[in-house]
Parts: sequence; C-alpha cells; structure tokens
Amino acid sequence: MSDLSEIIANLSPEKRNQFLARLRSNSQTEGKQTVRKVDFSTNFEYRFQSDTPFDFRPCQVEVQDPEPGCVQIRAKASSLNFRDVMIASRLYPASPGVPTNMGSDYAGVVEKVGEGVTTVKPGDEVIALHVGHVENGEVRENCHFIQTFNVFEECVCRKPANISFAAAACIPTVFLTAYIGLIKLADLKPTEKVLIHSAAGGVGLSAVQIARWRGAEIYATAGTEEKRKFLLKQGVQQAFDSRSPSFAEALLSADIGMDVILNTLSGELMTESIKLLRPFGRFIHIDKKDVNANFMLPMSLFINGISFQFLDISLLFKNPALLNTSLQELLSLFERGDFVPIEHTVFPAADLKKAITSLSRGTHVGKMVIQYS
Ligand SMILES: NC(=O)c1ccc[n+]([C@@H]2O[C@H](COP(=O)([O-])OP(=O)(O)OC[C@H]3O[C@@H](n4cnc5c(N)ncnc54)[C@H](OP(=O)(O)O)[C@@H]3O)[C@@H](O)[C@H]2O)c1
Repeated sequence: MSDLSEIIANLSPEKRNQFLARLRSNSQTEGKQTVRKVDFSTNFEYRFQSDTPFDFRPCQVEVQDPEPGCVQIRAKASSLNFRDVMIASRLYPASPGVPTNMGSDYAGVVEKVGEGVTTVKPGDEVIALHVGHVENGEVRENCHFIQTFNVFEECVCRKPANISFAAAACIPTVFLTAYIGLIKLADLKPTEKVLIHSAAGGVGLSAVQIARWRGAEIYATAGTEEKRKFLLKQGVQQAFDSRSPSFAEALLSADIGMDVILNTLSGELMTESIKLLRPFGRFIHIDKKDVNANFMLPMSLFINGISFQFLDISLLFKNPALLNTSLQELLSLFERGDFVPIEHTVFPAADLKKAITSLSRGTHVGKMVIQYS
C-alpha cells in the first residue's frame, strides 16, 4: 500500500502544512476542548468543520425514527479502517455512490425498526456494515462514527452470541475483504502457497486466519521486526519486510513461487510481487492508489498465465443484497467457531482523533475500536 508520507509529499505546500499541523495537534488541546462540550452518553456524531485534515468534532444530534425498510441501531462499538485515516486526512478519492463518511463497521443493539423490517427486532444484538445515517432514503454526508443511526435492513446481520461488541465490530470490512479476495476470487486451495502483504494489519490478520483455515502455506510481509515475529506465531511460514523488495529477492532466490498473492503494496513492490506468481497464479490487488493513478503494468508480467483482479469492497455498498448474503455467510463461520475476531485495541468514543492518529502511524497490530457508552 502507499505510505502516508508519500501521499503527504505529493500534496501542495499549503495542504501539507495544514495536514501536518493537524496531525501534531489533534490528540492534544483541540481534542480536549471539544470533548468537554459533548455528552457522549447520548446521541452524537462527529462532523467535519472544514476541509482541513482532522478538523472534525463531536456534535449532539436528534435522531428521527427509522424510515420503512430501515433499522435504528445504538452503537456499542465501531472499528476503524484505513479508509477512515484517508477520509480524516481529506485524501480519500471520491467514488460515485459511496459516501465519504468515516465509520463503517458497527456492532450494537437494535432500538427501533421501520415498517416492513422482518429480519431483526428491537433488542437484537447486531453487526452493521454501513457508512452513515439514512434520511429520506439516502445516506446523509458528513456524519461520522455515529452513536445512534438508521441504516438499511440489508446492511444489518445478527451478531454471533459468542462474540463481544468490540470484537464483532472488527469483523465486517477486513474479514469480507480477505474472505472474498482469498476464497471467492482466488479460490485458494489447501497446500497452495499464499503471500499476504502487510499481514499484521486488519485485512492482513484476517487473511492469515482464512488462509490457515483453508490449509494453505502462508508467507507474509510486515513493516517491523516486532510485527514479523507476531506473524510467525500466527502460523506464517516466513515473514519478510513489506517496505523494500527484499521479500521478492528472498523468495526468488529460494525458488518459492506463489499460487495466490493478496496485495496491498503499490508501484515497484507490486510488480516485484507479481513476478513471484507460479503458472495459473492469482493476484488479488486491494490497494486503490495505483488504480486511481492509472498505474501501468507491462503485459510481459502475465506470461505465466496469471490472473490479476482488483477488489474494492466499498462496491458492496451499491449492492446491499449481496452485502447481506456475503456478511451472513461469513458470520456463520464465526458462529461455528471456524474464525475468531482479530487482535484489537479499544478507545473511548471521545478519543476518536487519538485512535485515527494511532492507526495512521502504521505501527499497530490488528484493529482499533471505538467504544460507545
Ligand atoms: N480494496 C478494498 O476493498 C480494501 C478493503 C480494506 C482495506 N483495503 C486496503 O488494504 C490495506 C490494509 O487495510 P487494513 O484495514 O488492514 O489497514 P490497517 O489495519 O491500518 O493496516 C495497514 C497496514 O498497512 C501498512 N502501512 C503502510 N503504510 C502505512 C501508513 N502510512 N499508515 C498506516 N499503515 C501503513 C502497515 O503495514 P506494514 O507497515 O506492516 O506493511 C499497516 O499494518 C489498505 O491499503 C487499505 O486501503 C482495501
């Protein structure tokens, strides 16, 4: 994936200064001032005050009853994704039909249901994958990490009883990305070799678990020695540095080819990765930067009869029925005990800026979770 420092280097001097100033100050005085004004035990949401990076604050809000086909959920926890760092930094590329609200993975309790809702009822403990609050049949923009919100019924599934709210909030985006990528698209088979890049992050750890469940032989990359040691304890065969081409050199010189690669790296590191594929290998690319920048790949990379597929999980927001069946299928595997939620660190909702800043450093293992009172 692209490094935040690289993204920052490409900004105009004015935007760069704004960004860096915000990054330095956001968990300090500003955060404390706004926190005092808001009662976090009742309805609130975060809102951007300007286009300046990290200029979002909590606000008290009124929540209307859910419309027909919608469910009102009181969040207990929501997890952060890398997408939220990009939105907080005002760097997230707009995509038609996908709102740029922060906060998409929620676990909570159903408060009310709108007319026609049949799959859940008030009091049910649920998981929701959604990016905002529905008003007049549409998702309202500029509402982020919302405590109580209305959401389309298709975006809601029952939470497995054996999983806490904080752990459940860690499932939707990262597990769906890894599951659809490795199982549905790549059709990873037992004993096949898989390379998972940036494997200590949310998607990476989910992918490691799914690949292990599938019986594959797992190779991984991560940015620090500490993360690589952690990965070896998760059943990874060998772990390499994700920030230099040394992983490709090591695998090529040991003549270890890959059947499947789950890729978050961009530019040269991506092309070096593609070269590691065996004949009929499958490359699942999930970093949007090169796609948005129209990065070109030489056709000679495909000489081995490999396939390259770009996966963008946010497209599921445009197809709620598919979102629902995919999430149900995944959650049934958690219910059966095939998968367990990944490592996570919990922050109170008042510390959202601190949590996003922490995620943006890229030194964490697993997920960051926001907890609501
Ligand atoms: N296409 C899709 O549908 C989809 C869905 C979800 C996520 N993604 C993408 O998949 C990647 C991983 O997502 P995630 O949810 O697992 O994120 P995450 O938990 O925040 O992990 C991101 C990992 O990326 C690496 N990284 C490199 N530069 C970084 C930086 N400047 N700041 C933070 N981390 C940095 C770090 O790994 P190392 O330093 O250890 O390599 C970090 O562990 C991201 O690029 C995200 O945009 C795509």
